[in-house]
Amino acid sequence: MCGIVGYLGNKNAKEILLSGLKELEYRGYDSSGIAVLQNGKFDSFKAIGKLVNLEEKTKDFVTDNFSIGIGHTRWATHGKPTELNAHPHIGDESYVVHNGIIENYAELKQELITDGVTFLSQTDTEVIVHQFEKNLNISDSAFEAFKKTISELKGAYAILLVTKSTGETIFFAKNASPMILGINDENEKYFASSDTPLIGQCSDVNYFEDGDYGYVTPTELVIFTKDDVKKEAIFTKLSTNKLSAQKDGFRFFMEKEIYEQSSVIADTLLGRLSDDEILFNELDDSLLNGINEIKLCACGTSYHSALTASYLFERYAKIKTSTEVASEFRYRQPIMSKDTLFVVISQSGETADTLETLKMAKAAGLKTLVICNVDNSSMVRLADACILTRAGVEKGVASTKAFATQVTIFWMMALYLAKRNTSLSSQEIAKQIKFLREVPSIVKVDDEMHERIKRLSKRYLHGHGFFFIGRDVFYPLALEGALKLKEISYLHAEGYPSGEMKHGPIALADPELFTIALLPQHLLYEKAKSNVEELSARDSTICVISSQEFDKADDFIPINECTDYMLEFFEMMIVIQVLSLEIAVRLGNDVDMPRNLAKSVTVE
Ligand code: F6R
Repeated sequence: MCGIVGYLGNKNAKEILLSGLKELEYRGYDSSGIAVLQNGKFDSFKAIGKLVNLEEKTKDFVTDNFSIGIGHTRWATHGKPTELNAHPHIGDESYVVHNGIIENYAELKQELITDGVTFLSQTDTEVIVHQFEKNLNISDSAFEAFKKTISELKGAYAILLVTKSTGETIFFAKNASPMILGINDENEKYFASSDTPLIGQCSDVNYFEDGDYGYVTPTELVIFTKDDVKKEAIFTKLSTNKLSAQKDGFRFFMEKEIYEQSSVIADTLLGRLSDDEILFNELDDSLLNGINEIKLCACGTSYHSALTASYLFERYAKIKTSTEVASEFRYRQPIMSKDTLFVVISQSGETADTLETLKMAKAAGLKTLVICNVDNSSMVRLADACILTRAGVEKGVASTKAFATQVTIFWMMALYLAKRNTSLSSQEIAKQIKFLREVPSIVKVDDEMHERIKRLSKRYLHGHGFFFIGRDVFYPLALEGALKLKEISYLHAEGYPSGEMKHGPIALADPELFTIALLPQHLLYEKAKSNVEELSARDSTICVISSQEFDKADDFIPINECTDYMLEFFEMMIVIQVLSLEIAVRLGNDVDMPRNLAKSVTVE
C-alpha cells in the first residue's frame, strides 16, 4: 500500500527520503518518487518498479543545504503503475504526495479542466495540487489556499504538499489515512505514514488525528483540528529498536518471522497467565457487562484467526459468536444489537474495510475491542479497548507471526471469558493454561523438519491446484495454509472443511490435484481421516500432516505428538508456513514482496 515520507532540515534530504521509502517497502508498491526544494529550485524524480530504479535516477542529484522534500511509494489504485501516475504530482510550482482516495476527484477534475488545467496523470491525487494552485490565485496566503483545498476534498487522505512561494514550509493534512510527524534535537522535521522510517531519526512523534491539517517550518509547527481550532501536538517517545527490522541472516523476512514465532508468542503470553486464570489488565469489567454475543470482523489472515476464535469462544466460553469478512459486512446493512461485543482483528490496525466496520459498530453504540499488532494505529485509537498481540514489526507481506499471536490471544480470551461465564471448571482452565505455556516451544522450527519440507517441496511445483482440508479449528488453518501458498507461490490453492469435499470439490480429484490434509490426533481424527480416504480413492495426491502415520498418504509430514488439539494446531501452522515458503523459494519468487500484494490495505 502507498507510503509517505517528508523531510525539512539541513541534512542530506535525498538520502533521508530514499531510506525512509525503503523502510516502507514492505507495505508493497509499484512505483516511487521524490521532490526536493532547495535554493529556490525544485528537483523531482519518479520511477516504476523497485526503489533501486529511483536510486539510479537520483544518483547524480545532490542535497547538501537546507531543503524540504516529500517522497512516496505508490500502490496503484486510480490508473496503472506508470511514471506519470507515480507521486509526487506536480502543479505549476507545487508538488503533492497522497495516500488514500479522493472520492470527489472526478468532479473537481472536470471543473479544473474547464478552467484550462491540463492533467498529466490518471490519478485522483493530481487534483489536489491543481486545486491548491487554483486557490492560491485567490487566497491571501499559501496556507489559506491549502486550508480551502482540504475543505473541498472528500475521502481518505494523508497529504504532504510543498510549494515554491513558501520554500521553507511543508503543508500536511490527514483524514482516515495514517500520518505521523517526528522531531529531534537537531530541529529537523520528519513525516511518515508509519513509525518505521522515523526510528533512528527522531526522538519524539506526534500521531495526527483525523481532520488535522497545518504546516511546519524550521521554527513552527501549526496544527488545526477538523473544526478549524488550533491545537498543540502531543509528542510521545519513539522506540529506538531497529534491530527487529533486519533479516538476521535469514533469506527472507517471512522466514525470519516464522522462526521468531516462539519468542513473540512468549511475549504475547508475558504477564497474562497465572496458574488458573488469564489476566488481561487492558480489559475493564464494564466492557463485558451485559454482553451476550460476540461478533468478530476482519480481512484475510486476520479473518482466519477470527474464525478460529469463533470455535474456541463457543466451545469454552459458551458465548454465541459469529465471524464476518469486513468488506462484506460494511455494505450489507447488518443488524447490530447492543448486547454484542464487536471485535475487530488487524495486524496493521489500518485496513480500510475493517476500520470502517469498527466505525459502524461505534456509531451503532456497540462496545468495541480491537486485537491489533500496532499500537497507536487507527483502530487502536478508535476502539473502546485493545489487546496488543506483541508480534513486533511484521515485514513479510504474507502474515505469519501476526496470525500466530492473534490465535494465541484468542485462545487466552476464550479462557478469560470461560472463567467469567463459569463455563469451564478451574481445573480445566488450569489445564488449558499449561497447554498455552507450551506454545512457545511447540512453534520452535525444528531444523530436521525444515529440511524435510525443503526436499519435499520440489514435488509440489506443478499440478492444477491444492486443496488444504481440515475440520473444526483446522478448517480456518486450512484456509490460512491455502492463502499462504497462493500469496507467495502464485499456485492455485483453496481451503475447505474436510467434510465438504464430497459436495462438489472432489470432482477435481486426480493425481495432479494436491491435497494437504490436516489430521490432528485429538480432534475428530477418524472423521477427518475418512474424508482423506475419499480423496485418496479418487487418486488425488495426498500429503498428510499429522502425528499419526497414515498409509493412504503419498507424502507424510510428521508433527510431534501433543496432548491437546490446539498444540497440534500450532505444530501444523509451522508446517504449512514452511511448506508455502519453500515452494515459493523453489519457484524463484520474491517471498517478502509477492506480486500484486500490499502489506497494509488502506483502501477498500
Ligand atoms: C495475508 C495477509 C492479509 C492480511 C489482510 C488484513 O498474509 O497478510 O490477508 O491479513 O490484508 O490485514 P490486517 O491484519 O493488517 O488488517
